[in-house]
Amino acid sequence: MKNKIIAGNWKMNKLQSEAKQLIEELKPLVKDTENTVVICVPYTDLALAVEMTKGTNIHVGAQNCHWKESGAFTAEIAPSMLVEAGVEYVIIGHSERRTYFGETDATVLQRTTAALNAGLKPIVCIGETLEERNSGRMEEVLERQILKGFETITAEQLKNIVIAYEPVWAIGTGVTATDEQAQDAIAFCRSVFAKKYGKESADELYIQYGGSMNDANAKALLSMPDIDGGLIGGASLVAKKFADVVNAYKK
Ligand code: 13P
Repeated sequence: MKNKIIAGNWKMNKLQSEAKQLIEELKPLVKDTENTVVICVPYTDLALAVEMTKGTNIHVGAQNCHWKESGAFTAEIAPSMLVEAGVEYVIIGHSERRTYFGETDATVLQRTTAALNAGLKPIVCIGETLEERNSGRMEEVLERQILKGFETITAEQLKNIVIAYEPVWAIGTGVTATDEQAQDAIAFCRSVFAKKYGKESADELYIQYGGSMNDANAKALLSMPDIDGGLIGGASLVAKKFADVVNAYKK
């Protein structure tokens, strides 16, 4: 099994003073892990996070980027701006972006491509709603999100992408997918990638689970064979809880 990639998605939380305190507390708690640690922070915390994590094993990510390098796109941010700020990762296509801000598979593909071209590592989110799962359409939805969202992505580009499988019904609800549900869905996603890119590329691909993952359930989830990490929302806002997720799994 691979080491894991554990990423915190702070969403729209943490003023700079709060971010400073969280990162200060987090640094010593995760310093010995062999897993990759990422914090995806609001734009206003990026410079601080990059500065504070220099020389540590914590990587910094943003939560979105635009597909154009510059221009009249009020409130958007260019991938090169993130790179210049010292950012390494960027979340693309989170379900909150899809639900509230009109993100589609097509715009996910555009953003992912631009992020890759700038040298960022996209964490691309996919996942079904409760209604889609209950009506037996989970696989159809995941397959569509992958085939459309990765339509022009090459096997070479895929090496720099992380996938986050986040069932929408498990996000922020306290309802975690069971270990088996998460494993089954992620194994299915991997099979779709295998059909498109071949088994070797699909096996190398990191696929995280996200949705009410926390210090209590992380070990069991991360022990499942296809779950290569976690994208953590609420539990990443408390240093000790996030560190416990990071440290929950050792190879
Ligand atoms: P929660 O961990 O708060 O459910 O959020 C998950 C998520 O959306 C991470 O991107």
